[in-house]
Amino acid sequence: MLVQKNFSLQAFNTFHIAAKARALARIACEADLLGLLADPKWSDWPTLVLGGGSNILLTGDVKPLILKVEILGRRLVQETARAFIVEAGAGENWHDFVAWTLAQGYPGLENMALIPGTVGASPVQNIGAYGVELQDRFDALDALDLQTGQVFTLNAAQCAFGYRDSIFKHGSSAQADKGQQAIGLKHRSLILRVRLALPKRWQPVLGYADIDRKMLEHACSQPSAQQLFDWVCEIRRAKLPDPALVGNVGSFFKNPTVTAEQCADIIARDPRLVYYPLADGSIKLAAAWLIDACGWRGKSVGLAGVYEKQALVLVNRGAVDGPDSATGGEVMTLAGSIQTSVYERFGIRLEIEPVVV
Ligand code: EPU
Repeated sequence: MLVQKNFSLQAFNTFHIAAKARALARIACEADLLGLLADPKWSDWPTLVLGGGSNILLTGDVKPLILKVEILGRRLVQETARAFIVEAGAGENWHDFVAWTLAQGYPGLENMALIPGTVGASPVQNIGAYGVELQDRFDALDALDLQTGQVFTLNAAQCAFGYRDSIFKHGSSAQADKGQQAIGLKHRSLILRVRLALPKRWQPVLGYADIDRKMLEHACSQPSAQQLFDWVCEIRRAKLPDPALVGNVGSFFKNPTVTAEQCADIIARDPRLVYYPLADGSIKLAAAWLIDACGWRGKSVGLAGVYEKQALVLVNRGAVDGPDSATGGEVMTLAGSIQTSVYERFGIRLEIEPVVV
């Protein structure tokens, strides 16, 4: 197993921050990983799993051994009465996988077209767009326990999915009040393969303003999966920066959830607030709107900026290669200033969405 030392990560994170890894190993299969874990040179090193680098902000050089997941393969594993069960290696590109499922005649992932990153990273933050989240199509995943070397399988309930959240974002902790141990898998496992259940009785998932506009424009009330795929690609290309050209990690903050009272309080101060009532009575606020209302769209700190067309997206205004790029510190300073002004104006604490390393 080849471990590369002092490895530049600029092409391995979509923010294109110019940080280095002390050591990086490319994991193409389970055996690569088991070999590494058994190697006395590396077995004691802390590790960091890296997929497409599209949901990570590097604030400096990375000391743990980076496990760069490059496990490939996509296949139909099973056909049940209700669904096609398709599987992809964790290193597969997510968008290419979505396109492949459509080409094979298994629709269901089209609303999540063009989300950057790998299949293996998709359950970690329970990716989602235009009314569909990974958990809605999830069947199971296989992962390897980095402490024991054992492979285990988790179903959706065991992944504890939430809004941009899962068991993979949390560490284990003792819940003192209940005397229980909460099991988290952060830094504990490496996802090898993901299986999705794509329903045979497919229905388009509609109801999002951007999609509604496309339906009106095309005078089409029952779009096909391919049509939706094409529209989602068009919508995303029009308002989100292409990470190959402008470094970014998609939405930098989560959309916050508040009570109906808190929402009414903010509306009293600014009736233009954009919000979405949820089934449980709570209300989700558009973080992009809160940031925009505080005047941040288009602003910068050093080479870190707020994207002109979508205030929830922070961008690297510097080079995507070479030293003249934003630093992780600049991005965090900008993020902190945004959090402060949104809190001072609206009393809302914005939570950072990507993993900060
Ligand atoms: N808006 C503004 N100013 C802006 C941009 C948006 O006021 O600069 C307002 C608009 O009124 C708009 C509303 O905010 O209607 C919401 O914006 P948008 O539809 O672009 O969606 P979002 O809530 O900002 C979320 C996801 C995206 C996902 C889209 C579409 C999160 C954190 N983000 O963004 O996911 O693509 O919905 O479903 O939930 C990601 O997670 O990285 C991501 C890109």
